[in-house]
Amino acid sequence: MSTSLTLPRPDDWHLHLRDGAMLAGIAPESARHFARAIIMPNLVPPVVTGAEAAAYRERIRAVTGPGFTPLMTLYLTEGTDPADVVAAHAAGIITAVKLYPAGATTNSASGVRDIDRVRGVLEAMAEAGIPLLTHGEVTDPEVDIFDREAVFIDRVLDPLRRALPALRVVMEHITTADAVDYARSAPERLGATITTHHLVINRNHMLAGGIRPHYYCLPVAKRERHRAALVAAAISGDARFFLGTDSAPHADDAKLAACGCAGCFTATNTLSVLAQVFEAAGALDRLEGFVSRHGAGFYGLPVNTDTITLERRDTPISYPAKIETGAGPVTVFDPGFPLHWQVAPAA
Ligand code: DOR
Ligand code: ZN
Repeated sequence: MSTSLTLPRPDDWHLHLRDGAMLAGIAPESARHFARAIIMPNLVPPVVTGAEAAAYRERIRAVTGPGFTPLMTLYLTEGTDPADVVAAHAAGIITAVKLYPAGATTNSASGVRDIDRVRGVLEAMAEAGIPLLTHGEVTDPEVDIFDREAVFIDRVLDPLRRALPALRVVMEHITTADAVDYARSAPERLGATITTHHLVINRNHMLAGGIRPHYYCLPVAKRERHRAALVAAAISGDARFFLGTDSAPHADDAKLAACGCAGCFTATNTLSVLAQVFEAAGALDRLEGFVSRHGAGFYGLPVNTDTITLERRDTPISYPAKIETGAGPVTVFDPGFPLHWQVAPAA
């Protein structure tokens, strides 16, 4: 069995870095291991214009320094100006645009209620080759929360892709076999990110024997057969599937509340957890594609030239249970099993 694995430096194609004291506290956790990340725009208030994305990028860079490249996104609203999106992309300020159905998740109130109202923006994006990143859940209160992803594919995503076949789309943080099947059915211009935590937990881990708020995220973890389908997709070597951690910090007091926030914070130990998941599936040789190559390919970016090395330890590695930030402590994702793979310190 291999005891060390050297990979091109990975990228995280879906990351929440927040702002202010939280940003300062948690951004180093990602910058330590990842070269680039697609940065989610769901701040309060959201990142809506190119100018706001440029300013946010500077705040991130001020924390991480030059070794980490934040790839910015805009939060799509029904008032988004297509010309601003295209100009921000042409100027290299943004990489993609994020669709939050209004009310679907954290800070999504300014999101899209009626997809027809953003048709002009989507057409401009298709024309300019700007990817649309979807939070793929319907918000219809009639639809059970465990079905919201599958219903989104039928009601929103598939009609959208048929109407605008040139639009490049990433199905973000997929959680179901339905989403895996849909991504596989599309020959091109469609990618799908998979989080670390959805490869590890199913809904029983969150709800059986007591409620575990740190496993609550959106889309919510589903049945075991869906988790297994995600693992099968991640380890398949299929370049349409790539890592987007959706690492989403909330201070513990916001998680451990009567109405707790959605989000798992995995930045600190993501690569250790993934190495273990791939090893357990007998697919360590496919980890490189999932974390270092497929996403870059989708976005038309070069694979990173520097490397990181993962080392397998006989005794479990230690990592902090919490990251202390100026906005309060943030609990690090507990996969529920000891971790044996450690990212070697930079030489
Ligand atoms: O669990 C989640 N947390 N899912 C999301 O879609 C948003 C994220 C957050 O921003 O906290
Ligand atoms: Zn997210």
